[in-house]
Amino acid sequence: MPTPTEPPRTAQGGGRVLIALVGVVFAVLLIGVGGYLWLSKDSPGGPTALGGPFTLENGAGKTVTDRDFRGRYVLVYFGYTFCPDVCPTTLNAVADAMDKLGPKAERVTPVFITVDPKRDTPAVVQQYAAAFGPRIVGLTGTPEQIANVAKEFRVYYAEHRTGPGPNDYTMDHSSILYLMGPDGRFIAPVRADQSGDEMAAALARLIS
Ligand code: NI
Repeated sequence: MPTPTEPPRTAQGGGRVLIALVGVVFAVLLIGVGGYLWLSKDSPGGPTALGGPFTLENGAGKTVTDRDFRGRYVLVYFGYTFCPDVCPTTLNAVADAMDKLGPKAERVTPVFITVDPKRDTPAVVQQYAAAFGPRIVGLTGTPEQIANVAKEFRVYYAEHRTGPGPNDYTMDHSSILYLMGPDGRFIAPVRADQSGDEMAAALARLIS
């Protein structure tokens, strides 16, 4: 992370807050765009190896592993249910893309993995995901399980305090969709900041 520029000593509190906010927004954008460009770069051996074995919990509190999704395309997204903007926008686009993908959508399971396991219990994350579209699966886990799966997908996330209370925080997180193949292997990143139509077109090209 770049060190934020020191505001002028004469700046008012509001100015400082604004400068800090602009800095945070800019940093999140950089993480998203940079991560996407980096993932899109083909290495000589093929697409960047990404993902791997994971163990998480579904909406019923039952254990789910990566193997449970074999035979299906999986569109993975990391976020959290208290997200004020980016996650709901992305999940709306994913649901829209599923509607517009046609028969190929039958072979895709969108998976929403929370980076906020403290607040996102199994029931909460599943209810949230399903509210966007019935096909979307919400997963959570222990903080260690979330840390492991995020590491495998090279997802950045961090708690950002907004006050002294236990729930006074937001989560900074990278915002990229990952398309995994029926064999569990990473196929390609899919941009999260596009419309459902654009996302459907991108998925249609990637799904055989
Ligand atoms: Ni979010």
